[in-house]
Amino acid sequence: MTVDDIKKQLDVMALFKMNRMHWHLTEDQGWRIEIKKYPKLAEVASKRIEADGTEYGGYYTQEEVKEVVKYASDRFITVVPEIELPGHELAAIAAYPELSCKGQPVTPRTVWGVEHIVMCAGKELPFQFLEDVIAEVAALFPGEYLHIGGDECPKTSWKTCPLCQKRIRNEKLFADKNHTAEERLQSYFVQRMEKVAAKYGKKIIGWDEILEGGLSPTATVMSWRGEQGGIAAALTNHDVIMTPGSNGLYLDHYQGDSKVGPVGIGGFSPLKKTYSYNPIPDTLVAMGKENFIKGLQGNVWSEYLYTNDIREYRTFPRALAIAETGWTATELKDYNDFIRRIDNACVRLDGHDINYYIPMPEQPNGSSDFVTFTDNASLEFTTNRPVKMVYTLDGTEPTVNSTVYEAPLAFTDTATVKIASVLPSGKMNRVRTITVEKQTLSPAAAVEKKTPGLNMEVIDGTYLNMEELEKSGMKVTDKKVIKDTREIITYRRFSEETMRGFKQYAAIAKGYVDIPSDGVYFFSSDLEEVWIDGKKLIDNGGLVKHFCPTDKSVALSTVLHEFKVVFLSNSYGGFPTHWNDGSINIRKSDETSFKKIMPERLFH
Ligand code: ACM
Ligand code: ZN
Repeated sequence: MTVDDIKKQLDVMALFKMNRMHWHLTEDQGWRIEIKKYPKLAEVASKRIEADGTEYGGYYTQEEVKEVVKYASDRFITVVPEIELPGHELAAIAAYPELSCKGQPVTPRTVWGVEHIVMCAGKELPFQFLEDVIAEVAALFPGEYLHIGGDECPKTSWKTCPLCQKRIRNEKLFADKNHTAEERLQSYFVQRMEKVAAKYGKKIIGWDEILEGGLSPTATVMSWRGEQGGIAAALTNHDVIMTPGSNGLYLDHYQGDSKVGPVGIGGFSPLKKTYSYNPIPDTLVAMGKENFIKGLQGNVWSEYLYTNDIREYRTFPRALAIAETGWTATELKDYNDFIRRIDNACVRLDGHDINYYIPMPEQPNGSSDFVTFTDNASLEFTTNRPVKMVYTLDGTEPTVNSTVYEAPLAFTDTATVKIASVLPSGKMNRVRTITVEKQTLSPAAAVEKKTPGLNMEVIDGTYLNMEELEKSGMKVTDKKVIKDTREIITYRRFSEETMRGFKQYAAIAKGYVDIPSDGVYFFSSDLEEVWIDGKKLIDNGGLVKHFCPTDKSVALSTVLHEFKVVFLSNSYGGFPTHWNDGSINIRKSDETSFKKIMPERLFH
């Protein structure tokens, strides 16, 4: 995010009276703040070489940090910096490997997720490093809080590290009935840092994992894994900030059908869910502890927010729901009133050139841009809050004056639907183009002898797309019959989630799929390609292989159809294709949900 993008966000935050910006400055994938005492944080930790060979990087200089803090302060916003510890620190460890237990050379993580190489809690060095960092950070941020992270710190390396184990013995951090020794070691780590923060005039905030192993006396807890951590902290008289992902406060979640928007991390938090959240649990009111809830926060984790436009698209308008919750007594909140006002709020966001989400036209059982029928089709569209939809059938781009969608559209011939939502201001979202194609049932293949499973051919090498695979000459390095499409993924063992050192490959599995009855079937998959009857149905080329919005339908007669799937093992957009489950999912047009194609339906 450029400094200008941050300022733009601060302007809009101020407009809606959001008064804190929590700035997550360190991660496994990158360190984003200049620390003068440790120049390699800027030189090494701020950059990573992506799987496709390109460099991604950037950090804020201390001058830029001061500029942001001042800009925020001029708008009555306090910036709360977060320096993660002891986990989510691989980038710093890449710059200074001696910070980890083993001290092995590493590079900043190129895939998303949680890194198991963390700071050593047995050595003194990480404490010194973090104190030096905090000394510089504390001087840059005048607010009273420092966020020390504390979430998602795997304990695997501590379990086998002699120094960490020695610390456990020396400090008598033995397992008790509530906590493992390593959890207590994390608590020791955080409590030491709490004292360091205090020395530089800061109180600490930590993610709710800091409760595990015993809570630091003065810590504020940020409850993200539901509300339980926040409730437990408030019951012991600790301040709490509520930000439970399960209650719609993770603004990186989808806010509508994943099949009509850019790739996201997952989750489903439509505006209504975010708006409906009440940050003050009844149990705390009953115990007279509600005043320990200091506020609520929306999190905009940016793994899958590849551009500033997409970041804004996820953040708004849900951030406005969070602002309203923060400033409104629960009994005065009214969602219908809120969405009536949101249209005006969007005009104000237009004034700031914010690329906010406008509910997309969605199809009830899963959106698809390629809908097949045999006799006639009916296409229904909905939006996840009431918004007008307009469409054309003549191939022209819809405008605010196009036909208004009022009831399902009926088709007896092939057609193209172009449909978009339009706000009262006249602002439209992206136009969806949907091919509605009349087909005859594709005839079944005549197969004399069928054997369970698909024939898989493996081609060693890293291929980011089909063109690279085809140009390689496609030399087959192995052949195998697979029962389940999952075996495309598990063909070669991968013990590391990061796929570090993994020997990549392409796999092409061919055979037949059993279609139990005549009809139109939707297919869905995050593999590279799915072919049926010699035609490419699903093409996920160029996409991050996660919730690919490429579902398509085809008219098929019973029983067997030629079937081919292609898998490229690689990593793109921080997502290794190996994180997929390898399933190909199918839904008959009158069914409401997809089901995995099971092994008993695959033959060769
Ligand atoms: C978090 O989302 N890991 C705090
Ligand atoms: Zn260690």
